[in-house]
Amino acid sequence: MNASAAHTPKTKVTALPGDGIGPEVMAATIRILDAAGAPIEWEYAEAGGKAFERGVVTGVPRETLDSIARNKLALKSPLETPIGYGGKSANVTLRKYFELYANIRPVRELPGIQTPFSGRGIDMVIVRENVEDVYAGIEHMQTTTVAQCLKLMTAPGCERIIRAAYALAEAEGRKGVTVAHKANIMKLTEGMMKRMGEKVAPEFPSVKPGNIIIDNCAHQLVIKPEAFDVIVTSNMNGDIISDLAAGLVGGLGIAPSSNLGDNAAMFEAVHGSAPDIAGKGLANPTALLSAAIMLLRHIGAFDVAAKVEQALFVTLAEGRNLTGDLAPRGHGVGTDAFTDQVIANLGRISHMPSRDYKKLELKTWPKLTAHLEPNTRELVGIDVFIETGLSSEELGKQLEELSQYSMFTLTGIANRGVTVYPATGGETFLVDHFSCRFMFKTPIPLTGNTSEGQPEISYLVQRIGAKFPWMHIEKLQRFDGKDAFERPQGEG
Ligand code: NAI
Repeated sequence: MNASAAHTPKTKVTALPGDGIGPEVMAATIRILDAAGAPIEWEYAEAGGKAFERGVVTGVPRETLDSIARNKLALKSPLETPIGYGGKSANVTLRKYFELYANIRPVRELPGIQTPFSGRGIDMVIVRENVEDVYAGIEHMQTTTVAQCLKLMTAPGCERIIRAAYALAEAEGRKGVTVAHKANIMKLTEGMMKRMGEKVAPEFPSVKPGNIIIDNCAHQLVIKPEAFDVIVTSNMNGDIISDLAAGLVGGLGIAPSSNLGDNAAMFEAVHGSAPDIAGKGLANPTALLSAAIMLLRHIGAFDVAAKVEQALFVTLAEGRNLTGDLAPRGHGVGTDAFTDQVIANLGRISHMPSRDYKKLELKTWPKLTAHLEPNTRELVGIDVFIETGLSSEELGKQLEELSQYSMFTLTGIANRGVTVYPATGGETFLVDHFSCRFMFKTPIPLTGNTSEGQPEISYLVQRIGAKFPWMHIEKLQRFDGKDAFERPQGEG
């Protein structure tokens, strides 16, 4: 450690060496950071495979959670997830426990790493919502043939990730934020992300707003990746395009990421524990080291971050002492030799400059501003999901009969989102799971007491339940006179 660094106050960071190659890349990263004079004091903690073996069902022992809660910062190596039923992913546990809602994945062309896209100047950041969407894992078998996963997206969830993307664009001096979405199909969930982008954008006049449909985004990422700056998107979209984007600049093996929340931040490599090379001293620590560089910037240690980044760039550009995954076949060295080389290059400057960063402040907004606040809210009907092997015609007839004297009219039946009753003439493949739409003959205004209309619903559902097993019920509402639900394909 150099003399000046010895006087810098140190920030405590929880280090999770993790599984497989984890301890090797962690040791290499910490050795480089210490040699560069990083103002960090490491507090080691356990998570992943060994914790699972000891019977910790979440894979993250209490002491580890306490350590991160105290330090608010963690550098994490890959953690193994038990495959199949049973244990939860320790990674997901950590993200959810600390509400690390923003997954930040920088994607920048690295010197010396040849790809079909080299020389294009790719330099973007993907900001992925990290805790909502279908990844909440709310799944139910509906019948023995139909599985369901709920895609829940919330206004505060969309708002804070959009704000995080803009805050990041400002901190990194980036010019544009593009919301990538599938709002053309999922108008309410993905549409919420798009609308929130439009609502929040005017607060950040120095950043150019944009939006793109996610499939076109994937296409443009391959055709013209250099055109992107910051992309913000929902959890599953982000999962896919961030891996795609990493592939443009050399693959997952060198990609870092951070997971940011209001109160804690966790930095990690994107790759897994590489059990095939674990314990052999062959692992490439570049991804975890790059994550540690993000951590240094997060704590405001910009000079040390640039010093380490430049030493890494020089090492990669010169191509001496690279690990086997990057070196020409038969010329790879081990983790230690690569680490020594990066340390030897500390203080050197590469031809690729480090970006000019400012500290990223993720403000906590005491009152998120962009919620839907309708003046009127009405209950207009219900969808009842029924399990039956009847034909749609027969089911329709029976449901019309049993709702005859209720306050509802059966307006249609759908199967897998396609109207099948009244018949449309389409060739719809049927499963034993029908969504039956009953509309109130007179809509019920919801005046703050949201249980209004429920006795009527209970009456209808009881009558249906006497004949058919129902799987779930959805209320249909109208906000300010506009449908707050979607119509099935083929409904008039
Ligand atoms: P993996 O990323 O561990 O390995 C895929 C391939 O890339 C292997 O051939 C491996 O040798 C190579 N590789 C990965 N990182 C490398 C590095 N730093 N240097 C050199 N080569 C490297 O993916 P896999 O095999 O699907 O997953 C293994 C385990 O890791 C699983 O238990 C999985 O659950 C876990 N995992 C954990 C993650 C995390 O903690 N964030 C992320 C992904 C997987």
